[in-house]
Amino acid sequence: MKLWSGRFTKQTQPLVDRFQASIPFDHILWKEDIKGSIAHVTMLGESGILPSHECEILIEGLHRVAEKFEKGEVKWTIEMEDIHMCVEQLLHEEIGDLAGKLHTARSRNDQTSLDLHLFVRSATHEIVTKLTELWEVMLHKAEQEMDLILPGYTHLQRAQPVRFSHHLLAYANMLERDSQRFQESYQRADLCPLGAGAISGTSFPIDRLAVSHSLGFHDLYDNSMDAVSDRDYVWEFLSNCSLVMIHLSRLAEELILWSSQEFQFVELDDAFCTGSSMMPQKKNPDVPELVRGKSGRVIGHLMGLFAMLKGLPLTYNKDMQEDKEALFDTFTTVRDVLSIMSPLIESMRCNKAKMYAAANDPYIGATDLADYLTKKGVPFRQAHHVAGNLVRYGLENGKSLVELTLEELQEFHPLLEDDVLEQLTVEAMVEARECIGGTAKKTVKAAIEAKRRRLETTKLWLSNDF
Ligand code: ARG
Repeated sequence: MKLWSGRFTKQTQPLVDRFQASIPFDHILWKEDIKGSIAHVTMLGESGILPSHECEILIEGLHRVAEKFEKGEVKWTIEMEDIHMCVEQLLHEEIGDLAGKLHTARSRNDQTSLDLHLFVRSATHEIVTKLTELWEVMLHKAEQEMDLILPGYTHLQRAQPVRFSHHLLAYANMLERDSQRFQESYQRADLCPLGAGAISGTSFPIDRLAVSHSLGFHDLYDNSMDAVSDRDYVWEFLSNCSLVMIHLSRLAEELILWSSQEFQFVELDDAFCTGSSMMPQKKNPDVPELVRGKSGRVIGHLMGLFAMLKGLPLTYNKDMQEDKEALFDTFTTVRDVLSIMSPLIESMRCNKAKMYAAANDPYIGATDLADYLTKKGVPFRQAHHVAGNLVRYGLENGKSLVELTLEELQEFHPLLEDDVLEQLTVEAMVEARECIGGTAKKTVKAAIEAKRRRLETTKLWLSNDF
């Protein structure tokens, strides 16, 4: 018999049971659900809504249900509908009809919201932890590989030489912003909806502040309708996760390119690659490819939630049950992707010679050549033109910029003198960029220090009592 079967004359179609059940996926919320129920019952007792000896039996029973889950002894069925009804039925098996008092002054609407808030809070904590791990790996690698220089690209064409560390630190910045975004969205997930009832609150003299406080929320929803219909915090979590995946997908794409035979800038450790069933020579970068691929799935969940919420009248609608698979799958995907990227980056080997050879492109110094003239007073636009002409001349005569003779250079501009060539070496060009945010060694070292300090601040946030 369904817990809500009182007003019905028929059993539901088995097809409907299967169609509407969320227990196949929301059973993972058992911890949150029982934690919320214990806080609720404790408050019912303290407020005198239920006698304290009954509350003791209820809480004791809930602990026994938790133990069953812990030991993997729970066999849920489709007829149980969702985790909330499942826990109540299991409680009934433990303590009998008194279990029916658990739902006093509560609805599944505020209950499901509460469970999701608790879930998003701990998921946020876990994702930020994983983000800081990868962020730390990036800083470590940047420190280790300080002397590697590769071409920086725009349009995937060689643009200017940069330190490999500088390139990695750009990703460290993305991870830093990602973790900031999660810390901000955490604030909005950290609100207690319990007490909103089905929609309008409850006529029982409940103590919402006490429940909110015992569950560690910093505040509670001040509008019961908002409390049961808000899914912004789920959307924000998915949105932040999507951006993490976009960042990691860009990184994955670079790793795929860099580990190709055409680039050979890095070699991924064997432990993170797979082979081909037919071509014995292959070593495939499956892991970064899957990271890139899984970004589509996470973005898909975000779009799905967006579309699901659009046009829903207040307050709870069953449509909203669709939030769960999107949330759970996004969380496990992003957690796993972050977990695998850290050791993959840590263990990859970098090929200094290949990177340097690519950075030492015959014409990569053209900007610095133009800058040389500009520093001597030639308008940049004109200097750019002169450098462009020299590149064309070099291409036509099979000479790199540094191979041009003084006579050749001076034919293009009289202010070009001997000292220009030493400014066009890869090292000189990298070291000339000492401005804040530049790629000179001194600047990159200072950047690593600053980023380490900010990483520590994030770790401090993580060590807060959650
Ligand atoms: N399983 C539902 C969900 O995940 C729980 C809330 C159901 N409430 C209701 N009145 N049908 O959204």
